[in-house]
Amino acid sequence: MKHIFAKKQLKTLLAEMQDDNRLRRALGPVTLTSLGVGAIIGAGIFVATGAAAKGVAGPALMVSYALAGITCIFAALCYAEFASMAPVAGSAYTYAYTTMGEVFAWIIGWDLVLEYAVGSATVANGWSGYFQSVLAKFGVALPEYLQKAHYVYDNGHFTATSSWLNLPAILVVIAVTLILVKGIRESARFNAAMVFIKVAAVLFVIMVGAFFIHPANYTPFAPYGWSGLSFFGLHVAGQTNAGGDPVGMIAGAAIIFFAYIGFDSVSTHAEEAVNPRRDIPIGIIASLLICTVLYIAVVAVLTGMVPYAQLSKDAGVADAFRQAGLPWAEFVIAAAGVAGITSVLLVMMLSGPRVFLAMARDGLIPSKFFADVHPVFRTPWKSTMAIGLFVSVLAGLLPIDALLHLTNIGTLFAFTIVCGAVLIMRKLDPHAERPFRCPMVPAVPVLGIAACLLLMGSLPAANWWRLIVWLALGLVIYFSYGRKNSFLGRELRGEKIADRPVIHVQEPAH
Ligand code: ALA
Repeated sequence: MKHIFAKKQLKTLLAEMQDDNRLRRALGPVTLTSLGVGAIIGAGIFVATGAAAKGVAGPALMVSYALAGITCIFAALCYAEFASMAPVAGSAYTYAYTTMGEVFAWIIGWDLVLEYAVGSATVANGWSGYFQSVLAKFGVALPEYLQKAHYVYDNGHFTATSSWLNLPAILVVIAVTLILVKGIRESARFNAAMVFIKVAAVLFVIMVGAFFIHPANYTPFAPYGWSGLSFFGLHVAGQTNAGGDPVGMIAGAAIIFFAYIGFDSVSTHAEEAVNPRRDIPIGIIASLLICTVLYIAVVAVLTGMVPYAQLSKDAGVADAFRQAGLPWAEFVIAAAGVAGITSVLLVMMLSGPRVFLAMARDGLIPSKFFADVHPVFRTPWKSTMAIGLFVSVLAGLLPIDALLHLTNIGTLFAFTIVCGAVLIMRKLDPHAERPFRCPMVPAVPVLGIAACLLLMGSLPAANWWRLIVWLALGLVIYFSYGRKNSFLGRELRGEKIADRPVIHVQEPAH
């Protein structure tokens, strides 16, 4: 039983990087920052902003974006310290394995799979909304029963509707799964083009939209108040909506936090960075700062152009331009949104199987399935397809708001653990080489933990239960499989390990 807290040594991690499995080191600080921006800007700003300004925060959503951005910067500084110490794939899962022990690594790995899978379903839903608004420009509309998820999320409850499923969301997930199984040689040019399109669309929104701002729309600035605080569903401060969920500036931050998810993916490229110790922290922090500034400006424009109560829930940014009498701009933004959101979906759906791969390498899940590499394509095709199937079911049936909340709580939980892990590692191994040191320890990690818990608390309570059920399911699997089969545990029990998988996957080239 004591082995469930066994820790992987930092030196073992570093030694694993020395073998032939190492990925090519080709990414510099600019490419890493651009990968970060590519993974960050997506459905959050293009879709979720409209609904959050309309029903949760009003124009004060600008402040919500600043609060969520600051929370992410605390977490990012902690991620960066780890990524510079242990520049290996696996991200938060690996960091937890070296600091808190195997069972915590399991919890975080299992939680990251939730983040990436449910996050992918959220993004696919957002993609569908934008895709359908592009189709509408050409006079094409899907039958109503194929346009939206079967369930809506109303006042804390799922209610079945007459719609069957969200067909475009399912189709885009299937297409991306097939691309990932085949192996995506995502070139530097492809990523740069996507980032260019997205950033251009966002700058377009800011610069053109600025001419249509009516300052009167900023009053009232915080119609739902400044807080919106609850703890585990118990109301603490501020207003609630008809379903008892918190609304207000802080509640808004808990929702649009989604828009920042993705910066952590920069740390998963640590193995491929030319100078990981310098460039990974630069990539993470620069991409986050760029997005924070852009996001606040977009919300300022959006809530200035259209009275918050009239914003669209499904395609907020593009629709604001329609309301301002610029239908051509709506089309340009919707088309750029579709392209931009697709690239986020690719990154997210690539990340889930990678976490499984890292867990399978350590023997915590069956490597025959999760690390099975396709003989021709050299990709972890079985885990990619399993995750693809799960994501398509979620995306087809569940509405975007419920999916988004669940992704947020899972990610905030992961960030909390990473911040805690920095504190623990400083105690356990104070002399380890830390090419990038998180400044002001313990203040920054402690503030990071506090901010993440604050936002987690402000999400509707049902999400806590969903998270707990998911983690409990994970622990059942860990205690019935992972604990017995972990390579580290078996080594510590004195077993000779002859079946450690050697995994050569085709990694996306940049
Ligand atoms: N931040 C990503 C998005 O907004 C997940 O789509």
